[in-house]
Amino acid sequence: MYSLFGYGNMIADRHRMNAYVKALEGCIKPGSIVLDIGTGTGICAILACKLGAKQVYAIESNSAIAVAKLAAQDNDCGDKIEFIQAMSVNVDLPEKVDVIVSDLRGILPFFQEHIPSIIDARSRFLQTGGTMIPLRDRLWGTLVHAPELYHSYSSLWQQDIPYNLNLESPRSFLFHAWKKCTISLEQCLTEPLLFAVLDYAQISTPNLQVKLEWRAEKAGLGHGICLWFDSLLTTGVEFSNAPGQPDLIYGKAFLPWLEPVAIASGDRIICDLKANLVGGQYIWQWNSKIITGGKTRADFKQSTFNAKLINREALERRSLDYIPQVNENGIITSFILSLMDKNNNLEAIARECAALFPQRFPTWKNAVNQVREVIDDYGQ
Ligand SMILES: C[S@@+](CC[C@H](N)C(=O)[O-])C[C@H]1O[C@@H](n2cnc3c(N)ncnc32)[C@H](O)[C@@H]1O
Repeated sequence: MYSLFGYGNMIADRHRMNAYVKALEGCIKPGSIVLDIGTGTGICAILACKLGAKQVYAIESNSAIAVAKLAAQDNDCGDKIEFIQAMSVNVDLPEKVDVIVSDLRGILPFFQEHIPSIIDARSRFLQTGGTMIPLRDRLWGTLVHAPELYHSYSSLWQQDIPYNLNLESPRSFLFHAWKKCTISLEQCLTEPLLFAVLDYAQISTPNLQVKLEWRAEKAGLGHGICLWFDSLLTTGVEFSNAPGQPDLIYGKAFLPWLEPVAIASGDRIICDLKANLVGGQYIWQWNSKIITGGKTRADFKQSTFNAKLINREALERRSLDYIPQVNENGIITSFILSLMDKNNNLEAIARECAALFPQRFPTWKNAVNQVREVIDDYGQ
């Protein structure tokens, strides 16, 4: 969930923002019709108006859209932007657009519903010959020496533990989670490897399955793999998160190994990398082998699935043969729904709830929040 600080920091990232401004300058023509997906506080929609767009559709699921509306009025373009609070996949537009602009990425472009949203918007809203910003992201990876970063994993549940308790079990989960990092050129033990190109005019799947393979350039203690992306927003307008480039808001991803491994120059490092979108979140898998002269010295199998604290009962409830029963919350929700659309105001519904479920709501005021939540989810 983005905060106003988050949006502000994205706009304050000069390298990212200058690239978006240049790309918009190159792509928006007087009279253009533009779609800004994930407008946030409205920055690209407002810029598109300033550059001469005739009509801008600005879609945003977050309530930050209220701030975007104010910013549009402050910049005299409120009448040209239609703001729509929703996920783009649930929106219909009255016309096709010339330009779709977005930045729905996280640390990597494989982030939440980014790719499905782009595929959907491109197929439903983009004019033939229309322009996508960004045009293309490329993904890169290298093997890294990162003792401090690794220490941030290995020290937890191991140092300063009262009574010297054995906390290996919780600690072992940690190494299946990756985190945002900064990495310098000196920390890279291999040349960067280009392992995926996301061409947004063509892309048709949100998932990734690739084999990365490097030869170590120099000896050093390897702690894991670092991934990042660079972007071509439009012809001639690029930015990069590569080590050695100025740090951008996105950062890079550090995928730790289960143990540090001493790497000799000439070692082969193989990583089978998968990213699968499941229920709006990516499950990452990175299986790594370190091979010296044909002999496998280390073989790690890691997945963010193992780092998730999964409730077994919740998982069972997702099975196709599970027969569900309505719980008390469901009964209350369905009662509240039955009172909506009958000219009852919120207080009247809360009073009826308290009368029928006195154990749960000793007074009608105790029922107000529950009624509000149902109205938020199902009311209009
Ligand atoms: C990284 S912010 C970008 C904000 C702004 N466009 C910018 O460039 O500074 C991404 C925004 O997209 C929104 N978002 C992500 N996917 C979306 C979708 N499919 N439809 C609508 N909003 C979406 C998020 O809520 C978030 O506010």
